[in-house]
Amino acid sequence: MASKHLMALAVLAVMLSCTSSAPQSAYKARQQRQFSNNLQQAFPRQTNVPRPVSNFLRNGVPSGAQLINVQPLLPAISARLPDNYTLIRPNTVDTFRCSGDEFPNGYRNYGYYADVDNECQIFHVCLPLQQLYPGNFTNAITYQFSFICPAYTIFTQDALVCAWSTEAVPCEYAEQLYSVNDYFFSDKGLDGESYGKKVSFSGTETRNGRSLSGLPDMG
Ligand SMILES: *[C@@H]1O[C@H](CO)[C@@H](O)[C@H](O)[C@H]1NC(C)=O
Ligand SMILES: *[C@@H]1O[C@H](CO)[C@@H](O)[C@H](O)[C@H]1NC(C)=O
Repeated sequence: MASKHLMALAVLAVMLSCTSSAPQSAYKARQQRQFSNNLQQAFPRQTNVPRPVSNFLRNGVPSGAQLINVQPLLPAISARLPDNYTLIRPNTVDTFRCSGDEFPNGYRNYGYYADVDNECQIFHVCLPLQQLYPGNFTNAITYQFSFICPAYTIFTQDALVCAWSTEAVPCEYAEQLYSVNDYFFSDKGLDGESYGKKVSFSGTETRNGRSLSGLPDMG
């Protein structure tokens, strides 16, 4: 009886030593605390760096956080498109940019842009973090995503979709229509009229007895 008891204890001990993650995570937490203490000594409460950066330096970053306040590297266009894109367009040039000194703010506004140098078979999405989150980004940090339209279609800059090349706005007019992107985040249509309204949603409203939690008011 006693030996059975001992055996059970031994098994339990082995199981604990194998599976227990508690001591390890306590160790991790201790290390993290130590790390952030060191940081607090190295970076006392003085702020000639931007506040988010100094907060991170003093308190450490949440786990899983990434350093995003740096200009992302733009891979070559061949790496941005699906690897069989040459079946649709064999000769692609890599000239379109979402950011650069040639733009007044250092970037193009958020939006969808036909790539005229590639005969509008390719389009790009520009994502300038500084425009979208002006409080968080003091540098122009702009992401560029590139896409290719299916065969026989091109990106039509008026509707921001791929359309049969016979029905799309001819590519030579695309650049004149880039300004359609200025209508994102606006309640004005292309005709200058107001449509709908921007709402700040509290998350507690209902319509027809249905909770609209999380849904913006489209009416
Ligand atoms: C390219 O590859 C994707 C994914 O496998 C496929 O869906 C698509 O049809 C291919 N495109 C062409 C033009 O073959
Ligand atoms: C952006 O800034 C606001 C206000 O300072 C802050 O509440 C928010 O957490 C920040 N967002 C990110 C992604 O850093």
